[in-house]
Amino acid sequence: MSTMTEASIAAGADGAPNGITAIASGKGGVGKTWLAISLAHALAKMGQRTLLFDGDIGLANVDIQLGLMPKRDLGAVLEGTIGLAAAAQRFDAGGFDIIAGRSGSGSLARTSPHRLGELQGDLRELGGAYDRLLIDLGAGVDRSVSQLAGMASQILVVTTEEPTALTDAYAFIKVMHQQRPDLDVRVIINMASTPADGDRTYRTLLNACQNFLKIAPPLAGIVRADRRVREAIRAQTPLLVRSPNTEAATDVMAIARRLAPGPR
Ligand SMILES: Nc1ncnc2c1ncn2[C@@H]1O[C@H](COP(=O)(O)OP(=O)(O)OP(=O)(O)O)[C@@H](O)[C@H]1O
Ligand SMILES: [Mg+2]
Repeated sequence: MSTMTEASIAAGADGAPNGITAIASGKGGVGKTWLAISLAHALAKMGQRTLLFDGDIGLANVDIQLGLMPKRDLGAVLEGTIGLAAAAQRFDAGGFDIIAGRSGSGSLARTSPHRLGELQGDLRELGGAYDRLLIDLGAGVDRSVSQLAGMASQILVVTTEEPTALTDAYAFIKVMHQQRPDLDVRVIINMASTPADGDRTYRTLLNACQNFLKIAPPLAGIVRADRRVREAIRAQTPLLVRSPNTEAATDVMAIARRLAPGPR
């Protein structure tokens, strides 16, 4: 039994505040960072005050996908030069705020569990000023990933149709389920050839979860493979600015609408 702390009271009965969504995957390269950016953008378009935290262990991608040159980033926070709030910067084109990582620093991976815990406390507090905090996680389930994932009230597990991505997504769900059986885990099938293929992929994962874990993580949505995604990333411009009506943009907007049914 965990003891009731001030934080857990503020957070609600399940011990985690509402509105913290982590984007995770087992396998790398399935589109987490792009989805985190696009969902933040979609939620901001819907009027939600949104903060995107780049939690990808020294392989910061959010700033690169968006062509940002952050003056202040998580590296400076971990060095103790600035506080976490000072590292949040407005991304005007998307209407949301970003805390950028620092590529190549390896800083979060090397951060002690204690320091990471402090950082989480600060992030939780800062997140309270927003309707939604989105955390872009690194691939896999190492210590810092599962520690950061542990502060979320909801986890979106991203997979593609590839068997390796699917197996790794299952492994991630299994580990998270063992750690936090009450966690709201949902699945995003990204880069689907067609919605029907995406649905088949989801059912394969669902069957494995039902048979072996006795849980049925719902589908958050299917995002179609769309060459405009790659083009937007290459142009370091958000898809929802560059190609707001393309298939992948429509799919992401639909997921955001389902995530944010109304004011919380
Ligand atoms: N719906 C999509 N359609 C087409 N291409 C996509 C789609 N989603 C993502 N991609 C491609 O996948 C690539 C990888 O995306 P991204 O960097 O967001 O993945 P990631 O899961 O964050 O990777 P990592 O595990 O390395 O952090 C992008 O460069 C993009 O070109
Ligand atoms: Mg990434």
